[in-house]
Amino acid sequence: MFHVPPEIRIVSPPRKRQNPFPKPIDTEAIENIVRPFILSDDDYRKLMDSMLENFNKGLGKETNASARVKMFQTYVKSVPDGTESGDFLALDLGGTNFRVLLISLDGKEVKMESKIYLIPQHIMLGSGVQLFDHIAECIFKFMKDHDLMGKTLPLGFTFSFPCRQIGLDRAVLTNWTKGFKCEGVEGNDIVKLLHEAIERRGDIQVNCLAVINDTVGALMSCAHSDNSCAIGLILGTGTNACYIERLENVELWDGDWDEPQQVIINTEWGAYGDDGALDFVKTEYDRKVDKHSINPGKQVYEKMISGMYMGEIVRLVLVKLCKHGLIFGGRGSEELSTMGRFYTKYVSEIESDVNDHFKNTKQVFEDLMIPNHTEEDCRIVQHVCCLISTRAAYLASAGIACLLNKMNRPDVAVAVDGSLYRFHPHFHDLMVEKITQLLNPGIKFRLMLSHDGSGKGAALVAAVANRVQQQKKQQQLLANGMNDLSMDN
Ligand code: GLC
Repeated sequence: MFHVPPEIRIVSPPRKRQNPFPKPIDTEAIENIVRPFILSDDDYRKLMDSMLENFNKGLGKETNASARVKMFQTYVKSVPDGTESGDFLALDLGGTNFRVLLISLDGKEVKMESKIYLIPQHIMLGSGVQLFDHIAECIFKFMKDHDLMGKTLPLGFTFSFPCRQIGLDRAVLTNWTKGFKCEGVEGNDIVKLLHEAIERRGDIQVNCLAVINDTVGALMSCAHSDNSCAIGLILGTGTNACYIERLENVELWDGDWDEPQQVIINTEWGAYGDDGALDFVKTEYDRKVDKHSINPGKQVYEKMISGMYMGEIVRLVLVKLCKHGLIFGGRGSEELSTMGRFYTKYVSEIESDVNDHFKNTKQVFEDLMIPNHTEEDCRIVQHVCCLISTRAAYLASAGIACLLNKMNRPDVAVAVDGSLYRFHPHFHDLMVEKITQLLNPGIKFRLMLSHDGSGKGAALVAAVANRVQQQKKQQQLLANGMNDLSMDN
């Protein structure tokens, strides 16, 4: 027998046989189970205060080493000005897919061709050499298919994992997130690993000029058309944000102090809460998700928000409701009992049902082989999804409001990308509502969908880096020429 907490003993235990007279819904028992997902504005404000402390700790010279939220400097100082041009390769690694893109920039015009390659699970959990050999092979295939053999195009690499950057083209992975765990990569420069893999093949050449995070890609891509864009946000498999910070606040800054005296900071806010800061709002379901993940104790904020975990949180609640006989007549299915089997896309589908026909919801129940379900079950499951996705949207809003207040600019566009934000029917509206509530007076903001930031953003950063490299070469040539001249004299 399962354990029934005292507060919901009012419900009779689940029936073994089908009852011809369905019992009334015990709304109180259901509400008791889902209540921990409803947080007050005070909770969100408390969270913003501790988040600000974490951000400042990450930026501080003395405090960075022990900070959980690392606030990595990116060496990207300027946003694009629309004059970038040329052909670039871009790589995008950050989830289960790897993409190679060919991008032609011509002022504001951008043309892209791309191909998606799957990263099989055994490679995600294999060795770093295997991973980078796989990446090099995908690049080879792409170059062959696009008639690029023999060319050395400048390349921008969107690598969406926490990296301590040593320069624009050097990024040391600190720790894997989002289901990756390839041995021998943490602590190493990923550009070096990429170039080594390409050298091992010997049949292609690339010139990797810049590594960026996907948040930076989103920001750059939006800033290309709107120069008030100063925050990049990802709500997808994982979650993270970057923003433009004044150099005087970046105590570890070791780059140049030329204008503009600012740099994009990759917050890596997914790790917020790893020191227990979120314990006061964590539920038993969050704890279970964390315990069964490949990185227990890590990425606590990310696990309460992002697409890799949201479906699983919903599943755990549904299993509990079912065990207490509160849904599906107490009879779930093997699928529902399987970890990871309730996909986050189901949450978006279920919440997209606008009328009482519950078309999507019933389809999900069928996918999960749930034998008997009623309209009431549909309503309850929709309610559960709604509470969990709303909490996620509000938690992310608290993070954005905290950044906006910290930046204190009068008007900021926030570039947003990621499958959760794109496909969830209410995420955008929920966030606008909550950010507005939490924001200091006098600050205006907009959430803008960023299109293909991981590709376009990487190409834009590579374009700027390429321009600088070319300028340096020319200056060098000029200087050498002058030397030759003076030697001739
Ligand atoms: C994870 C990664 C981070 C990335 C985010 C969104 O949090 O650590 O680098 O930006 O996922 O993809």
